[in-house]
Amino acid sequence: MLYKPVVYVTRSLQEPGPTLLSKYCHINMNDSVIPISKRQMVEKAKEVDAIVCMLGDKIDSEVIYSAGNRLKLISCYSAGYDHVDLEAATNKEIVVTNTPDILSETTADLTFALIFAVSRNVVKGDYYVKNAKWKFGWTPDLFLGTDVYGKVLGIIGLGNIGTKVARRAKGFEMDVIYHNRTRRYELESKFGLRYVDFHELLRRSDFISIHVDLNKDTYHMISFDELKKMKNTAFLINTARGKVVKEKDLVRALNKGLIAGAGLDVYEEEPVSRESPLLKTSNAVLLPHLGSATQETRSRMAEMAAMNVINFFRQIGPLHRVN
Ligand code: DGY
Repeated sequence: MLYKPVVYVTRSLQEPGPTLLSKYCHINMNDSVIPISKRQMVEKAKEVDAIVCMLGDKIDSEVIYSAGNRLKLISCYSAGYDHVDLEAATNKEIVVTNTPDILSETTADLTFALIFAVSRNVVKGDYYVKNAKWKFGWTPDLFLGTDVYGKVLGIIGLGNIGTKVARRAKGFEMDVIYHNRTRRYELESKFGLRYVDFHELLRRSDFISIHVDLNKDTYHMISFDELKKMKNTAFLINTARGKVVKEKDLVRALNKGLIAGAGLDVYEEEPVSRESPLLKTSNAVLLPHLGSATQETRSRMAEMAAMNVINFFRQIGPLHRVN
């Protein structure tokens, strides 16, 4: 590669991303973890051949259409790419790539962390001990939770992450049912899963875990009607995208006791506003979008996001294209 492309990295990127990129490209990296403004993004997009972007960076049609003809590649440091206007990028012949699958095991682990946190009062118990509220030692009815073992787990979306959640659930001897756009017969026999329609999944599950992409079909896929169909002993877990659940309706369902609780890693708006009624719920465990947040996975993602840039300009594979 004789020409060294100029790459803008929107926020500080883990190693080996910067080292790999600097071998083949001129890197311009925002060394902060704070996202740049929309105006800065518009300006940057005009000056570079590629952008490595992160969740929370809005690469919308204004950024893409004002970029001129130099920008050729948008490499997402994430599996999800709903923060990029794919239609605008495709119209401008800009290639968009992501970091699929390598974060699935890590996100499936976090899904189970939330399942246990809500059903076994892990967060409440920690608060209780640390705040010196534990006065009487072992107590017969202290923080009684709900078993995970033997319960019905309903998985919405049996893609990379959903499949890994299903495999873990079998280790806990859960009965796993799923709903997906297409039936996954090979996974059904491999892991002993059962396909059900969406409404049956809502009615039968003790835990529902969401693993779909955000798109026009999945936007607010879980709203009040769906929450009403769930058992009042059931828990909703979301490590996918916040906008799949209508948050206002979820708060209402939690406060009315229509469901037992929720474990959330993602929200309609991130960060969650200080005024959000979700913060006042007593039966939700809330995490700040940590699905892929381990040292190992973030460094694998950084490597893949960097290699997508390098391979694109060197015209060799693999390239994880999404358009
Ligand atoms: C992704 O990559 O889409 C995840 O949500 C990041 O944690």
